[in-house]
Amino acid sequence: MSAIDIHQDPPNTGGVVLAARHVTKSFGAVRALKGVNFDVHRGQVTTLLAENGAGKSTPMKILSGVQRPSTGEIILDGAAVDFGSTTEAQERGICIFHQELSLAHNLSVRDNIFMGREIRGRFGVDYAEEERQVRKLMKELEEDIDPLEMVENLRLGQQQIVEIARALSVDALILIMDEPTSALSAAEVEVLFKVIHDLKAKGGLDRRYLAPP
Ligand SMILES: Nc1ncnc2c1ncn2[C@@H]1O[C@H](COP(=O)(O)OP(=O)(O)OP(=O)(O)O)[C@@H](O)[C@H]1O
Ligand SMILES: [Mg+2]
Repeated sequence: MSAIDIHQDPPNTGGVVLAARHVTKSFGAVRALKGVNFDVHRGQVTTLLAENGAGKSTPMKILSGVQRPSTGEIILDGAAVDFGSTTEAQERGICIFHQELSLAHNLSVRDNIFMGREIRGRFGVDYAEEERQVRKLMKELEEDIDPLEMVENLRLGQQQIVEIARALSVDALILIMDEPTSALSAAEVEVLFKVIHDLKAKGGLDRRYLAPP
């Protein structure tokens, strides 16, 4: 296994929101991570670079509650956290979209974006409001994707955009993207980079998740 390079842009300005300390992960005899350390600063894009199989996805899965570290610590806003599930991580504002997309193919774009956190009105789920919010997100992303379209009818790149829209709609504190451009067309990559640039220009994501509920 080769080392993971960590690239940070812009240089550290905001405070550290998330840190990995001596994180190791073994799968049986396979030592996927031998002790990873990095800081994630507010308003900064932190990039993990390494060759195939070196262990980029594993730290991201640990940060987002998909897997637990074998040893070591994840520190969020100064305190150690141990997420038992992606839901727990999400409640603290950490949102991931995976290298392998995790959308439900037989559901609409709208239902994928609001799965598990439906907007409720007086008479049950407020589908009209959900649809309105998805249209707004797609407009911001400059994507012509119908909220009511089934995900299985979308191109891979469009599915990636749906993942991005979902991540943006939860107003995450930390957005983790695992090789997000791999399935995108050149035009879709431009949109993604614009979204990242805009988030950075805003000085980072929402702070409301920092204090535990
Ligand atoms: N669930 C698992 N069980 C066994 N081995 C695993 C598991 N997940 C990852 N590994 C191994 O751990 C190592 C690191 O995997 P990881 O997916 O983090 O690498 P990666 O850098 O993201 O790879 P890629 O470039 O292919 O996306 C690899 O050798 C992989 O085979
Ligand atoms: Mg990977």
